[in-house]
Amino acid sequence: MISDSATPLIVASGVKKAFQHMGRTLEVLRGIDLTIYVGEMVGIVGQSGAGKSTLLHCMGTLDLVSSGSITIASEELTTMSGARLADLRNRTIGFVFQFHHLLPEFNALENVLMPGLIQGRSRKEMAPRASALLEEVGLADRMLHRPGELSGGEQQRVALARALVLDPKLLLADEPTGNLDSRTSEAMHQLFYKINETRKTTIVIVTHNAALAGGMERVITLRDGKVERDERRNDASYRHAGPDAVVAERAGTGKVDVA
Ligand SMILES: Nc1ncnc2c1ncn2[C@@H]1O[C@H](COP(=O)(O)OP(=O)(O)OP(=O)(O)O)[C@@H](O)[C@H]1O
Ligand SMILES: [Mg+2]
Repeated sequence: MISDSATPLIVASGVKKAFQHMGRTLEVLRGIDLTIYVGEMVGIVGQSGAGKSTLLHCMGTLDLVSSGSITIASEELTTMSGARLADLRNRTIGFVFQFHHLLPEFNALENVLMPGLIQGRSRKEMAPRASALLEEVGLADRMLHRPGELSGGEQQRVALARALVLDPKLLLADEPTGNLDSRTSEAMHQLFYKINETRKTTIVIVTHNAALAGGMERVITLRDGKVERDERRNDASYRHAGPDAVVAERAGTGKVDVA
């Protein structure tokens, strides 16, 4: 439950995003106002084309808004230079996408420590961290496998370890279980919950997965580029109930509208 003293991490105010496409202006985000607090785990759901990925990219500094404001930890993104945005992104944000984007010619350990090397840190510093994270996601015996030698679920867990290696305040995930079967997805869900609980990482997950959305304390529904619903629940027990129980429960309440 968010108390009055909670600290905002992301504040979006009047966020609009339009794309120019074949001479037409396509308004994809049409005035988004929301605050995400430190330590929250938030699901973003809504129909295909509602603007979920676009919003996540804008919050993650991967795309620029057309108007309005977004701050992360009180830093205004919309007036920042490209170099400062990249720096903020590296220091603060980890990403997990539907397609893992691992480097095929490197093994799991190398993929996970790569963001540190890119930041100029040494392999000696990064390797113990990377291997501890791979252990944490259950891949202690797969560290030397290349992505092509890992299952889809294992690849996604490597991507999650990579996203966490610089200890980001914020983890943004776009359909991280979109390509996984239900059992593998459930294992991935449990990892997200565990990270949120143990590391207190703020997590925002775009998902079509009813079980994953149903396990989160807060679910924001987008519709046609606007926030249609923003619901909080104080009952975190869902997260350990397993996917079938969650789906059945949510189907009964009809509260979470997962497209
Ligand atoms: N670069 C772009 N140029 C033009 N239109 C775009 C661009 N990126 C996204 N769009 C359009 O913006 C709308 C919202 O896209 P977005 O990817 O945010 O949807 P989404 O809610 O993530 O959908 P899905 O659930 O299918 O992933 C879509 O109609 C899409 O076609
Ligand atoms: Mg999307």
